[in-house]
Amino acid sequence: MKRSKIAGIGYYVPERIVTNDELTKVMDTTDEWIQERTGIRERHYGVKHEETTSSMAAAAARIACERAGIAPEEIDFIVFATLSPDYYFPGCGVLVQRELGITHKEVGALDIRNQCSGFIYALSIADQFVKTGMYKNVLVVGSEMHSMGLDFSTRGRNVTVIFGDGAGAAIIQPTDEPEQGILTTKLHSDGTYAEKLAFINPGAHGGYHFKKLGEQVDFGYPPPDTYGEIFITPKMISDGNYYPNMEGQFVFKLAVQKFPEVIHEALNEAGLKTSDINMLIPHQANLRISQFVQRILGLRDDQVWNNIQRYGNTTAASVPIALCEAWEAGKIKEGDLVCLAAFGSGFTWGSALIRW
Ligand code: UT7
Repeated sequence: MKRSKIAGIGYYVPERIVTNDELTKVMDTTDEWIQERTGIRERHYGVKHEETTSSMAAAAARIACERAGIAPEEIDFIVFATLSPDYYFPGCGVLVQRELGITHKEVGALDIRNQCSGFIYALSIADQFVKTGMYKNVLVVGSEMHSMGLDFSTRGRNVTVIFGDGAGAAIIQPTDEPEQGILTTKLHSDGTYAEKLAFINPGAHGGYHFKKLGEQVDFGYPPPDTYGEIFITPKMISDGNYYPNMEGQFVFKLAVQKFPEVIHEALNEAGLKTSDINMLIPHQANLRISQFVQRILGLRDDQVWNNIQRYGNTTAASVPIALCEAWEAGKIKEGDLVCLAAFGSGFTWGSALIRW
C-alpha cells in the first residue's frame, strides 16, 4: 500500500483583529484574566455577511493547491471539518467545492463534525482514501467562523473570549518515498460527557438526553408541543439559549490527560520516542494545556508550536493554521517528524505522526 503525504498547506485568517480590551467593552472580563488563564492576547473575526466558514476555507485551499502544484479542479475528494457551518445542511464541503469552481462530477465531499479534533479525523480519512488508491488529490479543510455564534454578554464570557475565526487546508497526495508521509493516525471518542462542551440548541433532542441523564439542565427544555418546534422553540430564543456551553475545568483536566496519552500511542505504534519529535502541533485550546503537555513529554520550547496568543482557539482550523505557520517559519523541514494532536468536544481526540 502507498503512503500519503501533505503535498501543500495554506491558511487564512480574517483581517480584523479583536483584542482582549475590545471584549471588555461588551462583557465583564479583563485582558489580565484572559491572558493569565488562556494565553490569548487577540483573535481574528471574519467580516459579517462577507466572509463565511466556506469562503475562508476556499482562501486557505487555494494556497494549499498552489503549493501542491495542482489546480482546484484536480481535487477529487473534499473532507471539511467545522463546528460552525454556513448552513445546518448541506455541509460546507459542497460549498467550498462551488467556491473553488470545481465542476467535474467525479469529486465527492464529506463534512466532519468532530470540533477540535476535526482536522485530525479529516486527515485520517484522507489518508485511508489515498493509501488505498481511491483518490489522488484530497482537500482537507478545517475552518471556523465562531464569531457569528457566540454569546457576547457576560453570561457567555468563559467561552466567547477563547474562540477566533480562521481556516487551514492541506492537499493530501500519494507518495512513493518510503520514508515520507503520514506514518499513523490515532482516533478516539467517549460520549459519556457529551454535554460538558456542547452547542445544544437548536437541535432535535427535544430534551431526551437530559431526561435520561436525570439532570435538571436549563438548556434541556421539555419536548415541544408541536413537531415544528423541535429544533428551536420560542422559549429558547427568549432565554437566549442557543449558544455553546463549556465546563472549562472538567474539559481542561481531561485534555491534559488525553493529549500525552494519544501522542504516546502514535509514537509506540511507529516505534518512535518523544525525543524523535521535531515539532509538536497541539490543538490550540489553551496555552496552559500546551505548556503542560510540553512538560509531560519533556519537549523544548522550539519543539512545540503555539499561536493561540494571536488567534485564540479556532477549533477545527487550529491544527492546520499552526502547522502551516510553523512550516512557513522554516521550523519544519524535510525529514522532520511532526506530531499533530487534539482533544475536544464529544469528547473526541486524536493524533497524527507525519514524516515531512
Ligand atoms: O478546544 C476545546 C477544548 N477546550 C478546552 O480544552 C478548554 C479547557 N478549559 C479552559 O481552557 C479553562 O477552563 C477556561 C479558560 C475555559 C476557564 O479557565 P478556568 O481557570 O478553568 O476558570 P473557571 O472556569 O474555573 O472560572 C474561574 C472564575 C469564575 O468566577 P468565580 O466563580 O471564581 O467567581 C468565572 O466566573 O473566572 C470567572 N470567569 C471569568 N472572569 C473574567 C470565567 N470566564 C471569565 C472571563 N473573564 N472571560
